[in-house]
Amino acid sequence: MTEIPDPSGTEPLIQLQDHGKVVVLQLNRPAKLNALSTALEQELLEVLRSPAVGSAAAIVFTGSARAFSAGADTSELPQMTPERIAAYYRGSGSVYDVVSRLPQPTVAAISGYCLGAGFELALACDIRIADETAQFGLPEVGLGILPSSGGLTRLVRAVGAAVTREIILFGERFPATEAYRLGLVREVVAAGEVMPVALERAGFLAAQPALAVAWTKAAIDAAAESSSASSLLIEQLAYAALNRSAEEGK
Ligand code: COA
Repeated sequence: MTEIPDPSGTEPLIQLQDHGKVVVLQLNRPAKLNALSTALEQELLEVLRSPAVGSAAAIVFTGSARAFSAGADTSELPQMTPERIAAYYRGSGSVYDVVSRLPQPTVAAISGYCLGAGFELALACDIRIADETAQFGLPEVGLGILPSSGGLTRLVRAVGAAVTREIILFGERFPATEAYRLGLVREVVAAGEVMPVALERAGFLAAQPALAVAWTKAAIDAAAESSSASSLLIEQLAYAALNRSAEEGK
């Protein structure tokens, strides 16, 4: 494993670890349970644009043992006027969408609290692996707002409107086993095991043909938004493009 050095000498909010074809992005604000401040989101956006991430074949997102992330930084919420919120989603707040559109497979490795925007970040990944300490929840309605970084939309598509209503309107925290039962988590592992398992699964995905993975991810996203006819056409066109590229590679 190679740690990418921090040129500024200050502690980065995102730590990037290079594991060969897999890159690990660790949220690094443990004293605040990895609360997603705009500074942290901005740094994540910049790291996602870096050559180290661009050349990775799979990406693992993780936090600390106590928290994947306890959500948006609540100290910033009172300053958010409608104008600032519009600007925020054009800037650092776009990071959730950027994660969801990455061409590489993405894995969220989750321990401890996975709340609010932290849960939304995990939902923007392709798969989630949690350890038995993980606790999920979307407490926004209790704060007078709602999950607005793509989590509401992704949850409806993943588990349907009825379960989404339960999770968001009650805002209760639920354990990894419940997230697994709902299909939101692929595997629940013992405490301390989440990174080795996430790295193993990311390594498998990293070894798949990159173009097939990228087109498949894009086709799945398009399927959720298209008519059957359009989605079928996308499948067939992507197949034609991939097969052509496989032929050319011979
Ligand atoms: N934003 C900013 N700071 C946060 C935070 C958040 N979302 N979540 C936790 N923190 C900070 C706390 O303020 C505290 O900082 P301090 O030590 O400087 O006072 C530190 O992280 C540890 O949190 P603490 O509340 O002491 O830990 P806990 O184990 O008692 O409780 C939680 C953990 C997650 C239950 C609790 O911190 C919490 O409810 N956080 C807010 C979750 C939330 O509402 N997220 C959605 C926001 S839209």
